[in-house]
Amino acid sequence: MSSPALSPGLKTQPAAFPQRFRFIKPTLPPLEAVIAAYAEAYSSGIVTNAGLVERFEHRAAERLGVRHCVAVSSCTSGLMLVLRALGVSGEVILPSFTFFATGEAVLWNGLRPVFADCDPETWNLDPADVRRKITNKTGAIVAVHMYGNPCAASQLESIAAQRGLKLIFDAAHAFGSEHKGRPVGQFGDAEVFSLSPTKLLIAGEGGLVSTNDGTLAGLLRAGRNYGDLGAYDPHLLGVNARMSEFNAALALAGMDILDAKIDRHNAIASAYTERLSSLPGLRFQKVAAGDLCTYKDFSVHVDADRAGISRDALAVDLLADNIETKKYFYPPLHRQQLFRGFHTEGSLSCTDSVSNGILSLPVYESLSDEIVEGVARAIRRHISRGFDQAAEVTES
Ligand SMILES: Cc1ncc(COP(=O)(O)O)c(C=O)c1O
Repeated sequence: MSSPALSPGLKTQPAAFPQRFRFIKPTLPPLEAVIAAYAEAYSSGIVTNAGLVERFEHRAAERLGVRHCVAVSSCTSGLMLVLRALGVSGEVILPSFTFFATGEAVLWNGLRPVFADCDPETWNLDPADVRRKITNKTGAIVAVHMYGNPCAASQLESIAAQRGLKLIFDAAHAFGSEHKGRPVGQFGDAEVFSLSPTKLLIAGEGGLVSTNDGTLAGLLRAGRNYGDLGAYDPHLLGVNARMSEFNAALALAGMDILDAKIDRHNAIASAYTERLSSLPGLRFQKVAAGDLCTYKDFSVHVDADRAGISRDALAVDLLADNIETKKYFYPPLHRQQLFRGFHTEGSLSCTDSVSNGILSLPVYESLSDEIVEGVARAIRRHISRGFDQAAEVTES
């Protein structure tokens, strides 16, 4: 497929920004705070999976209001271990509109992914389609809180309970999100967070599983340590998915700046929405009233017919303005080579439509109001031009 060219006329216009700025530039906690925490581990000579990891797990469990948090090396390894430790077999229902790691955790366990469609407004897993996809082979549902927007967690809990299924949330984007007044982290059998550098709470690399199930937490602690809890005789198939003390020091210091980051991401999301919502052909992710979204990403959906410009053409024009964007997440899983062969039943029309039009804009704490305004102005300019051109074609 050829990529769209720059829109006519743009070559002669000055770029909206004289220089390219980064799509993502996460704010890290003060280095002194990280070093102060890490010094303790370093001087003890125990640099992995020790006191700081435990302290981080306790602090995270307190914040999330859950009994157990188990720190791991990544969200992907956490998802893999949770599926294994819960003894899931057969089919797993999951969204296709997600990052491929969600599906890879399913494949690593030798399970069969069954893709369900997303909701057209929240872009999260559609509970009605989940119901339709349940068979006597279904073992679990894995839902995602897309960009930190809480999915229909309580509805999915009822479905899982009625049908005797395990329920796991890929909460990669959602440390700090809230659903119906409760922190994300409290839902299902387990929720799994990512602490990689594009997230709001950063460990460098890392993941965290939250659960109220003590047996599951014990299995995960063994699972992240080759399946062994010290007897030198692993009782389940594990892997090395431990978190290092340095990663825990970074995450612990990061907890102190998390709320300020969530506030800033929300302020930027509101500013974009306010400045762009009158444009034709742009849609925004719906967050349910009372829920809190971290806006790990802020994405818009471009309807090419109504906006007069396709998502891809808009991305090219914005890049000429030195504004980098991403397509989180395109293509959807059922159109990727690892997963294509598993998708046999029904259309995923909403997933295709959302994924075909999705465009993620820069959103991070240090992005100034002026830059946000400049990005919005550039989008308005490109869409108005596309819209005028489309109108001219219709009229002539
Ligand atoms: C939805 C989703 N799930 C899982 C992951 C994987 O996280 P990690 O890199 O911590 O394994 C990501 C990464 O961004 C993600 O976006």
